[in-house]
Amino acid sequence: MRLDKLLANMGYGSRKEVKQLLKQKAVTVDDDYVKDAALHVDPDKQVVAVYGEHVVYTEFVYFMMNKPPGVISATEDLREETVIDLLEPLHQHFQPFPVGRLDKDTEGLLLLTNDGVLAHNLLSPKKHVPKVYYAQIDGVVTAEDAEKFAAGVELDDGYLTKPGKLVILRSAQQSEIELTIQEGKFHQVKRMFEAVGKHVTYLKRLSMGSLTLDDSLALGEYRALTPEELDHLQSQQ
Ligand code: URA
Repeated sequence: MRLDKLLANMGYGSRKEVKQLLKQKAVTVDDDYVKDAALHVDPDKQVVAVYGEHVVYTEFVYFMMNKPPGVISATEDLREETVIDLLEPLHQHFQPFPVGRLDKDTEGLLLLTNDGVLAHNLLSPKKHVPKVYYAQIDGVVTAEDAEKFAAGVELDDGYLTKPGKLVILRSAQQSEIELTIQEGKFHQVKRMFEAVGKHVTYLKRLSMGSLTLDDSLALGEYRALTPEELDHLQSQQ
């Protein structure tokens, strides 16, 4: 790959800006200063550095975000703030997109990647990737609701959901629950509760397949997946 392309791909600026870096003797390849933007380098075999910092070439990025309420799970929008707006420019440069959608008011685990194959596999209805949600419910959630969810409930458009596993954490006028579902229909959790006459007042996704939200991430924060997290996600498919 051309040196200027590699550096531009890795977020070191436009090709023009990269040329400036080269001119300033900021770039080394295997410890030799290089000024030639067209030089071909093999990032697997040669060490490229900018101001002495090793440039590790990656094509794919994988981030987990604790999505805050008030932002939408889209890559761009004219009016609304998106989850991509919350990423640093260096990370936006890789053009990640959210894997599936959380509603604007929903919080919690959102995976962002530019790996279309992984995204497709996680979202494919055939793969039954379980997603776990924590929710607060206006209304008394009962064992009967859990039985109904286990059998599948009919949504407002007549769709019969696959079985969902409902764990009641607190049954009161304001209930707290955890729900595991294996599909991702539009507003699914909210609509499942509407189907039993109850209303979700707060919703947070805790996990998706083997990936669990890192609870040290504050709302709006994100971090790269660890190699182990990525391995597990890829191997469960
Ligand atoms: N179910 C919902 O109702 N909303 C979400 O954001 C995710 C699942």
